[in-house]
Amino acid sequence: MACFCTTPKRTVLSRSWRKICAATGTQAFVAAAPLNLVYVADLSKTGQSGSEAELFTAADVGFISENVYLFCTSERLATVVRGSVDRDALAKIMKLGPNQKVLLAQTVGYPKK
Ligand SMILES: Cc1cc2nc3c(=O)[nH]c(=O)nc-3n(C[C@H](O)[C@H](O)[C@H](O)COP(=O)(O)O)c2cc1C
Repeated sequence: MACFCTTPKRTVLSRSWRKICAATGTQAFVAAAPLNLVYVADLSKTGQSGSEAELFTAADVGFISENVYLFCTSERLATVVRGSVDRDALAKIMKLGPNQKVLLAQTVGYPKK
């Protein structure tokens, strides 16, 4: 399972990195947030196959994203795990292989004042 992070808008980003940032979500707050995590499962590395591999990677992403929720709560940050991702488009932009599947994304930011 790999995480790719986007960086704040103020940072000078390469064009390809900027494209990845924009593609990590379909909702407006995604582009404005300081951090987006993308959870990618490499199904060739799970040690299982078929639906078993999918089950285990889904469980993993649940644990990981929940830990991010717990950390954000402790630090008074806002977070939202997102299934609303154009997975095919993002996989293409990130140059993922056929065994690498985008599962979920998660935005981290500051709570509204
Ligand atoms: C698997 C999963 C996928 C989700 N996908 C989205 C999503 O794409 N966009 C979104 O705004 N909320 C999505 N949610 C809901 C949020 O992650 C969050 O749970 C919800 O906004 C409630 O958060 P709150 O209690 O902080 O208001 C998803 C939740 C889960 C469990």
